Amino acid sequence: MSERTLVLVKPDGVRRGVVGEVVSRIERKGLKLVALELRTLPRETAEAHYGEHSSKPFFGELVDFITGGPLVAMVVEGPRAIEAFRALAGATDPVKATPGTVRGDFALEIGENIVHGSDSTDSAAREIKLFFPELG
Ligand code: CMP
Repeated sequence: MSERTLVLVKPDGVRRGVVGEVVSRIERKGLKLVALELRTLPRETAEAHYGEHSSKPFFGELVDFITGGPLVAMVVEGPRAIEAFRALAGATDPVKATPGTVRGDFALEIGENIVHGSDSTDSAAREIKLFFPELG
């Protein structure tokens, strides 16, 4: 059965010029793009997206970072797309991420880890609605 996940190439990934690389890995894996857009997030959207982290000490930094430049938001679809993309992304901490994953290949710092992927079916539904309400 097919499912959908929200993927972000965060502002560090856009700045580094790895959007094509990330899209290419998604497509090579066999996942399909359902929506894709370059945009700069308003603070309210960023705060809603990262709501579960609002009490963390790095929340302000996280919102500053994710709103600090254009990002690429995508909806990606396929069998077990949530888990499949998280495997392509690698561990949240890029130093621990296996080489061959996006974070393992392109990042060093946890706060600038190139990509985001929804972590569950519930968060995928919530995040897709927030970024692409028209897909609802
Ligand atoms: P992401 O998958 O987008 O979801 C939450 C983000 O918080 C995570 O990726 C990291 O980029 C970020 N994050 C997690 N831990 C820290 C930390 N200790 N300092 C700064 N950012 C963090």
